[in-house]
Amino acid sequence: MLYTPVTFRNVELKNRWVMSPMCMYSSEDGLPNDFHFVHYGSRAQGGTGLLIVEATGVEPRGRITNHCMGIWNDEQAKKLQRIVEFVHKNSESKIGIQLSHSGRKGSTWNTKQISVEEGWETIAPSPIPYHPTERIPHVLTLEEIKEQVMNFREAARRAVEAGFDVIEIHAAHGYLIHQFLSPLSNIRTDEYGGSFENRTRFLIEIVDAVNEELNDNIALFVRISGTEYAENGWEIEDSVELAKVLKNHSVDLIDVSSGGNIHGVKIPLFEGYQVPLASQVRNEADVRTGAVGLIKKVSHAEEILEKGDADLIFIAREMLRNPYIAVQGSFEMKEECFFPNQYLRAKISS
Ligand SMILES: Cc1cc2nc3c(=O)[nH]c(=O)nc-3n(C[C@H](O)[C@H](O)[C@H](O)COP(=O)(O)O)c2cc1C
Repeated sequence: MLYTPVTFRNVELKNRWVMSPMCMYSSEDGLPNDFHFVHYGSRAQGGTGLLIVEATGVEPRGRITNHCMGIWNDEQAKKLQRIVEFVHKNSESKIGIQLSHSGRKGSTWNTKQISVEEGWETIAPSPIPYHPTERIPHVLTLEEIKEQVMNFREAARRAVEAGFDVIEIHAAHGYLIHQFLSPLSNIRTDEYGGSFENRTRFLIEIVDAVNEELNDNIALFVRISGTEYAENGWEIEDSVELAKVLKNHSVDLIDVSSGGNIHGVKIPLFEGYQVPLASQVRNEADVRTGAVGLIKKVSHAEEILEKGDADLIFIAREMLRNPYIAVQGSFEMKEECFFPNQYLRAKISS
């Protein structure tokens, strides 16, 4: 299974390993640099089926910190294109990008909010900060909501021009889109708040706008928090319902993570702790899912796929420790996997 190719639209992934998006906090003015080139290039050399570039701001305030990646201008897109072209030329990996807006969780450093002068005034659906000690975010007007939808669309257009194979919309971890989804962070009384349909409207508008920029050669994924572990908050049943709607709006895969919107909740951590969420979404909404979270072993990844809990395996921290996990897994399982020609002498054991 791990080495069985899979296709989303016309995008064929050679195997089911995905480098999960991970902020590297290493950009200036939102630009990727040599560090990012080597960082993503290495994982492509490691045989990973799909790499997803870290949360990338669709506008300056969409970043989490001043050092997050951005794609709100052409210079940023051009620099990203260099990474995309390297990956396409020198590996069999496909490469995606996670488009993101931090909302009320922006303007931070080392997870602490920084001043408006050092950072910026944050935005949100409602005047509720993530942590009570933080500033009250600016509440988006209806016009400003439309501008944010356009920001995602423009970012998608630039990502398409840069040559990415997959766009992932970040609707998880308590960032702006998740803030709209949850009744705990969204208490609006207009058409963007209240009912499930209203709270999901912002995301659906973004999905539709982004899809306007895509074609059959670029797949669309959405990352959600399957649950936020809080009473009266966003629950797994909401995620299942949302996944059904997203499928009808041409979303190709739901990447199921969890948490991030409510400060101080207890998250039950164990190996593959979010896999049951991916499984429920997959089996009840009949959509393809990605499983993520404390998956470190090749045999565990294979088991998740065999059991029908997910279609792709997203790996974050283990991918930092072991960029070659896909190649290593193929040796263990005696399966075929891309291995750089330049390294072929290492394929024969000695
Ligand atoms: C350094 C670091 C940065 C992260 N940045 C992002 C991000 O940009 N977008 C995102 O959706 N998740 C982000 N995450 C979460 C990971 O993608 C992943 O969901 C999480 O780490 C659980 O997977 P793991 O147990 O394999 O690390 C980040 C995680 C780490 C460790």
